Amino acid sequence: MTTPVKAVRGTRDLLPPETALWSRIEATAREVFARYNFGEIRTPIFEETTLFARGVGEETDIVSKEMYTWEDRARAQSEKTQSLTLRPENTAGVVRAYIEHKLSETGQLQKLFYIGPQFRRERPQKGRYRQFFQIGAEVIGPPHAGSESPLRDAEVLEMLASLLEELGIEGWTLRLNSVGSASDRPAYLAKLREAIAPVAHRMCADCQRRAETNPLRVLDCKVAEDQEIIESLPRIADSLDEASRAHFAAVCAALEAARVPYTLDHRLVRGLDYYTRTTFEFTHGGLGAQNALLGGGRYDGLSEAIGGPKAPGIGFAIGQDRLVLTLQAQEQEEAERADAWVAPVGEAQNPASLALARELRRAGLRVELGDGGFRVRKSMEVADRQARRIILLGEDELASGVLTVKDFSTAVQTKIPRAELAAHLLAARAEAKQKKEKQRA
Ligand code: HAM
Repeated sequence: MTTPVKAVRGTRDLLPPETALWSRIEATAREVFARYNFGEIRTPIFEETTLFARGVGEETDIVSKEMYTWEDRARAQSEKTQSLTLRPENTAGVVRAYIEHKLSETGQLQKLFYIGPQFRRERPQKGRYRQFFQIGAEVIGPPHAGSESPLRDAEVLEMLASLLEELGIEGWTLRLNSVGSASDRPAYLAKLREAIAPVAHRMCADCQRRAETNPLRVLDCKVAEDQEIIESLPRIADSLDEASRAHFAAVCAALEAARVPYTLDHRLVRGLDYYTRTTFEFTHGGLGAQNALLGGGRYDGLSEAIGGPKAPGIGFAIGQDRLVLTLQAQEQEEAERADAWVAPVGEAQNPASLALARELRRAGLRVELGDGGFRVRKSMEVADRQARRIILLGEDELASGVLTVKDFSTAVQTKIPRAELAAHLLAARAEAKQKKEKQRA
């Protein structure tokens, strides 16, 4: 018998019913992008290798280690043999298309989104594949169209916060940094080289090489033994010139006005060389080691680096595989939640609470029982992780027969007569199930 052929390492088949979730994410992204007036762009899956070497940077891990590159042989005399590469990311391709189709001549900002596969020869693990999918967007245009404005950065970030909210992703963190501009970067790099030189011999082999070729990449190093040294190196924020500093402050102020929460991360340099000024990532704790749900930033010099006109831009790419993982984990967690957590207020209420839990369980509800030895605040904290709502049973409730129920999803507290409680909870469960099914459809 011949051995069956399998999918290549790091690639996967997506099958129903999971594909329905992939489609739902794409539909929601399209809806949100349309509201912000983005149009779709589709660029080829492969490009000339030079595009990524010049655009993303020869010294990056992506270009130096991870690309699928081959010599494409000429088929006719009119053709030439050339080096081609499966796209490892799509920003360089979008900017190439912007230049090739002379979109700068429209004089307007181009707001473009894309959804599609990317390819990197990385070590596969949870959330990291060799063929993976990105949902990305780019805002690019001539400076006179406002492409350099910090408001563009903040608007893109605000759009991302809205998209994640609409997808139902909970618990993300926006990490933000500025890596400076073409004018303030050289001074910082010189400082960094100088600081690394005397300690480089104590760092990993990659850092020793990067210290010479591209010192900014040292800040990206994940090797545990190098972390103490890296923390002691000069920070980019202290080397920004007045213009870069003002740009970053304006981005932060606009985010605050729009109530988009963020944290500063002075080591967020990202793994691609085209970034200038704003860089960001949205991370999620549930993802494990590969915790970046998405990443992006500003790239004011990319167009010129690949032979185009001055066309500053900002954009991002979401890892769709990681979005799916996060939503699936959330759904699983949600499914495992109890309908209610019965919390006795004081140990004297323990017996009565057991009786109440029994009543609800016999009605078919999934119920957790706390302990009157816990303070109410502690009960709330624990219950919030394991149940949809908490029912407080104190002396007053027992005497009046009216119970206080706090719903964790809305933070609303209601008073419900004990005789109606089981029916109320069953109805709430049916309603939630219906809502979920409608969402899926
Ligand atoms: P990136 O950080 O290389 O940026 O990738 C963006 C996102 O793609 C990551 O945060 C992650 O969620 C996902 N991703 C990357 N590699 C893998 C992988 N091997 N497996 C699964 N998911 C992965 C870029 O690609 C830039 N082009 C983003 C950008 C757009 N910057 C400006 N405009």
